[in-house]
Amino acid sequence: MEIIHLSAECYPIAKVGGLGDVVGALPKYQNKLGHIAKVVMPAYQTRFMQENEFEVVYDGWGKLGFQNFTVRIFREKTNKLGFDLFLVHIAGLLDREKVYGYDDDTERFLAFQIAVLDWMAQWEHQPDVIHCHDHHMGLIPFMASYCPQFRKLSQVPSILTIHNAQYQGQFGWDKLHYIPAFDLWKSGQLDWKGSINPLAAAIKCAWRVTTVSPSYLDEISYKANGLEDLFAQERAKCVGILNGIDNDVWNPDTDPMLEKNYNIRTVDSGKKANKKALCDVFNLDPEKPLFTFIGRLVGEKGADLLPEIFYNALIQTNGEINILLLGSGDPQVEGRLAQLKDVFPGSYNAYIGYNEILSHQVYAGGDFLLMPSRVEPCGLNQMYALRYGTIPIVRRIGGLKDTVIDIGDGGFGICHDQTAVWDVGNAIGRAYELFLDTKRVKEIRKFMMQLDHSWDKAAQQYIDLYRI
Ligand code: ADP
Ligand code: GLC
Repeated sequence: MEIIHLSAECYPIAKVGGLGDVVGALPKYQNKLGHIAKVVMPAYQTRFMQENEFEVVYDGWGKLGFQNFTVRIFREKTNKLGFDLFLVHIAGLLDREKVYGYDDDTERFLAFQIAVLDWMAQWEHQPDVIHCHDHHMGLIPFMASYCPQFRKLSQVPSILTIHNAQYQGQFGWDKLHYIPAFDLWKSGQLDWKGSINPLAAAIKCAWRVTTVSPSYLDEISYKANGLEDLFAQERAKCVGILNGIDNDVWNPDTDPMLEKNYNIRTVDSGKKANKKALCDVFNLDPEKPLFTFIGRLVGEKGADLLPEIFYNALIQTNGEINILLLGSGDPQVEGRLAQLKDVFPGSYNAYIGYNEILSHQVYAGGDFLLMPSRVEPCGLNQMYALRYGTIPIVRRIGGLKDTVIDIGDGGFGICHDQTAVWDVGNAIGRAYELFLDTKRVKEIRKFMMQLDHSWDKAAQQYIDLYRI
């Protein structure tokens, strides 16, 4: 089958969170299964763009409302990522350093979607499926179905994968003229509660809809940032497919970013060396258990509670633990987490910012990884932690519920029920007790590291879904 993935992120070209990891891995695994999976994404001004070689495969222009824009599409020449990569350049809109966060994100991603459809409508052949990721690509199923300009694509099945229904990309009806002409009686397909809602439109118009874990699919019927009724209506075409991880990139035995590589046999000495290196850099004590957090500092991740959680844990254990945080997001939360450094020097430290290399080192050097998420459609961090022998402490929600089993139930992680300071505190207390049982920790680490969360299974599940 020929599969076209459309996404705003793809590792290693541009990554903000797990979406980038997924789109950087799933197509590669689909190709390994004998299919032809390609990725089309915006050409941001990232290092990848400067450091690699490209050929131009398309020159054209598009129209966004009353404005024309020029389009140039590049193909990465070597195929070194394991799939064909196409980057869409639109001067003035996409050629910026950041992926999101601009006032004109609506215009940027709409122009991208229009440009891609214009291009694909000129292909001599049609792909077997167009796989759209998140709301940034949410108007593709609608436009492909109802805009005469893209008529050639109207019979190509479109799939929407929802990585996070919190973000929907809504904009006002005053921008309707951005969307190329269509029969106006189809306008209802774009609407949700009085706005043009790209995520809702994709849920209505895509041939199939997936969420990134089965539990998240159950949860969004009653908690989906206003889309609950829509999910209830469209439930029959939705399916939850648990994400995998890229075992080539996330392998402690070969990971070039680590102080020392290790595998199941050498995990004890390997983790010890990585922990020591990390503790040296961050002025922490390698003899004490190291609790870590990596992620976006936003409400969904429970980040607003972290300062209080950390403060209590450090006071209650009399400084017998270390905490290291790597994250960025809400400036207020960032500030509070940075301030704690002065309160607990030698026991607590934080790197406020995004740092891919450090994230690998933290997965490898930590003893525990905290994920007290309020919402977690899948979560990749806990799967990376498992592969690196770091015990996850997670709230039982979404994909976390589908991937982590509590030690009390014969499993390998520590689970709690609420995103609440006291509940996470209890979980940290349980982890601290566990840490003192060195033999058990060693057994759990080895057990976790042999769990298979690679993309092999999910890549096939998507292929089966495309065939329906
Ligand atoms: P989400 O996509 O909701 O942010 P995921 O758990 O799916 O959550 O994926 C997060 C990804 O982003 C992981 O690869 C994680 O290591 C990475 N990540 C998050 N924050 C940072 C950071 N500050 N520095 C480096 N990597 C980060
Ligand atoms: C989203 C979700 C996260 C998921 C990721 C990849 O960003 O918040 O839970 O793991 O997408 O699917």
